Amino acid sequence: MKNILCIGAGYVGGSTMPVIASHCPEYRIVIVDINEARIAAWQSDQLPIYEPGLDEIVRQTRGKNLFFSTEINRNIAEADIIFVSVNTPTKTFGQGAGRAADLQYWEKTARQILENSTSSKIVVEKSTLPVRTAEAMERILNSNNQGLHFDVLSNPEFLAEGTAVQDMQKPNRVLIGGRETESGQKAVEELVEMYAQWVPRERIITTNLWSSELSKLVANAFLAQRISSINAISALCEKTEADINEVAAAIGHDERIGRYFLRASVGFGGSCFQKDILNLVYLCEHYGLPEVARYWEQVVKMNEYQEARFSANMVTSMFNTVAGKRIALFGAAFKANTNDTRESPALEVCRALLEEQADLVITDPHAMENACYDLKELAKRVTFEPDPYIAARNAHAIAILTEWPQYTQLDYESIYHSMVKPAFLFDGRNLLDHKKLYEIGFNVYPIGKPPLTRLTTYELKHV
Ligand code: NAD
Ligand code: UGA
Repeated sequence: MKNILCIGAGYVGGSTMPVIASHCPEYRIVIVDINEARIAAWQSDQLPIYEPGLDEIVRQTRGKNLFFSTEINRNIAEADIIFVSVNTPTKTFGQGAGRAADLQYWEKTARQILENSTSSKIVVEKSTLPVRTAEAMERILNSNNQGLHFDVLSNPEFLAEGTAVQDMQKPNRVLIGGRETESGQKAVEELVEMYAQWVPRERIITTNLWSSELSKLVANAFLAQRISSINAISALCEKTEADINEVAAAIGHDERIGRYFLRASVGFGGSCFQKDILNLVYLCEHYGLPEVARYWEQVVKMNEYQEARFSANMVTSMFNTVAGKRIALFGAAFKANTNDTRESPALEVCRALLEEQADLVITDPHAMENACYDLKELAKRVTFEPDPYIAARNAHAIAILTEWPQYTQLDYESIYHSMVKPAFLFDGRNLLDHKKLYEIGFNVYPIGKPPLTRLTTYELKHV
């Protein structure tokens, strides 16, 4: 039996390892973390992350060949293969602050592996890292004087939150980068064998280390760029009476463009798109490519513009003031089917409306605890209400900020009657049936489409 260790029991470690455990009963997998509360939650019935299908797979594997622990050192010593999936956030201090990746957690892990190893091992980069990080990892690990040898592989993770289990079960590709040495290639082959237990061979791509590391950043940059592109066009649609959904469908029919990832929205969020693009920008600057850096930076700037445009539009539409007005924010998570609120556009809108002194109520089926945590001091100025009907009662407006499917099933007729009139609905996800809402009586403001409003242009400009 081989021992696999995963350092970092977050969204990635916590959703990839149970799937590996379920397909590879001959591996004993331990996931460790410095966060004791998180490990305790993984050992309980209340998992620390909400991810469809994950509860079941953890229940099936936990205690059999999947274990959660805080004993990092002992588990390092016993491991044959170590996956490192610690967080690599944007640096907030010193050189490269606001753009470069903060590699302190990463480097601590490398040193801890070195200090506690008594046998040679394969170390796998699962975290998203700047290109050429493996070089530093190799230098640290192979600086040992016990004759141990460490092969460092890059195996970036492409799962998306909300569909993590499904993405792991049927990945559209698995990427493994390794050194082109005999021992490097042997290590690559060992990881290929593991994935091949459930992933078709033709979907397992092997490359050199640097292509693998860079491809992860580039994949996220390309995905985010599509959202910023469609969001940029949504602003033009609002000025010209073109409809963004029609434009997206029309261009997406061209197979060279493709139909996915063209949903205009209040903006993209999540812990990775912004962080990884900023990291790419920093790398381009580092390698003396300022034009390339500015090109990718614009994707993030466009996202900030879209978030700011949404809240500014709310204020303007509601007669240029929201001070003291109750507004219900439907959704706090950065997307549906997750409790993750990191870089959530919903919280950006929340912050902007609090600046305008609005009286905010947030509702979300799974993400209120994280929203409260992320808003820090500002959370004291917000009401958290699990029931969307109560959240909307006596509100002047509703803003749909996360595309939770349950929001499509609500009785908007009764919600409308419980609200202050004129009642506004701002749909930051183009989730609802706008015509129907307008017929009920709402003034409806979608993204990238003309608003459906009963207010005259005169009223909008002069009240
Ligand atoms: P996360 O913050 O949810 O989890 C990281 C965990 O690592 C935390 O629980 C933290 O306590 C732990 N940790 C930090 N330092 C440690 C140490 N020295 N020893 C043991 N544990 C330690 O982060 P995440 O969302 O799982 O992301 C992890 C990495 O994977 C990042 O590089 C991210 O860019 C990448 N990634 C994330 C996703 C995603 O959807 N979240 C997808 C693909 C790739
Ligand atoms: C993204 C990538 O999709 C994953 O492949 C990658 O592994 C991951 O980042 C990562 O490196 O962390 P994730 O951020 O979990 O996954 O979720 P996405 O589905 O990509 O959504 C990101 C944001 O874009 C969300 O706020 C979502 O609502 C928004 N989005 C997405 C749009 O506004 N429009 C779209 O058409 C698609």
